[in-house]
Amino acid sequence: MVNASAPSGHAALMDEVYRGQRHIYDFTRKYYLFGRDTLIKGLAAQPGMRVLEIACGTGRNLATIGKVWPGVRLYGLDISAEMLKSARAAVGAEARLGQGDACSFDAAALLGEPQFDRIVLSYSLSMIPDWQGALDHAASLLAPGGTLHVVDFGDLAGLPRPLAGLLRAWLAKFHVAPRDDMSTVAGRIAAAHDLLLTSTRGPLGYFQLHVLAAK
Ligand SMILES: C[S@@+](CC[C@H](N)C(=O)[O-])C[C@H]1O[C@@H](n2cnc3c(N)ncnc32)[C@H](O)[C@@H]1O
Repeated sequence: MVNASAPSGHAALMDEVYRGQRHIYDFTRKYYLFGRDTLIKGLAAQPGMRVLEIACGTGRNLATIGKVWPGVRLYGLDISAEMLKSARAAVGAEARLGQGDACSFDAAALLGEPQFDRIVLSYSLSMIPDWQGALDHAASLLAPGGTLHVVDFGDLAGLPRPLAGLLRAWLAKFHVAPRDDMSTVAGRIAAAHDLLLTSTRGPLGYFQLHVLAAK
């Protein structure tokens, strides 16, 4: 694994959040990070394709992608050295992992590839302060014909209002903020990169899924 630089303030915060949590992350998050497997099924990846998850966390998604789409080449990027320890254990030696900031990492230097055929951002934009910068950077890394897939908390509009409020308050304790304007921002970024945007909403608005596809 390549370590790009000394931990920044946000990297240190993520390490603090996940140092202990990473050991129970996969078990607990399956009960509330919905839509991840829907995203993975929609990747339609072919053997040999380069698949990158930005902010890959424990590597749970990458490991699943490797099973669902055998023969793909796996790449993971995260700002937290702690999370990357779990990711390395989950994905094995073949996947290439790097530590860096989703908003600005140098893909060629960290991961040995300048572009990717499939890029995934799963429940990470809600934790990245400059999430619009991260989405824009991801779009800039798409190979010709590539697709960028995003899943994250939705507007929660179908939940009873007090429940949605409680959920937002609880998520905020973990530095998570649902991005209510993600569809609008994704549309702007898709237009800027000449990509086609398809957006869907999970039941009750719990999650939102966006695919930005090269034309
Ligand atoms: C809620 S976890 C999601 C992990 C994984 N994508 C999943 O779906 O299970 C959020 C991840 O984003 C990472 N992260 C937060 N800010 C980041 C940034 N600026 N650059 C890269 N990774 C970041 C955290 O370290 C953490 O691993």
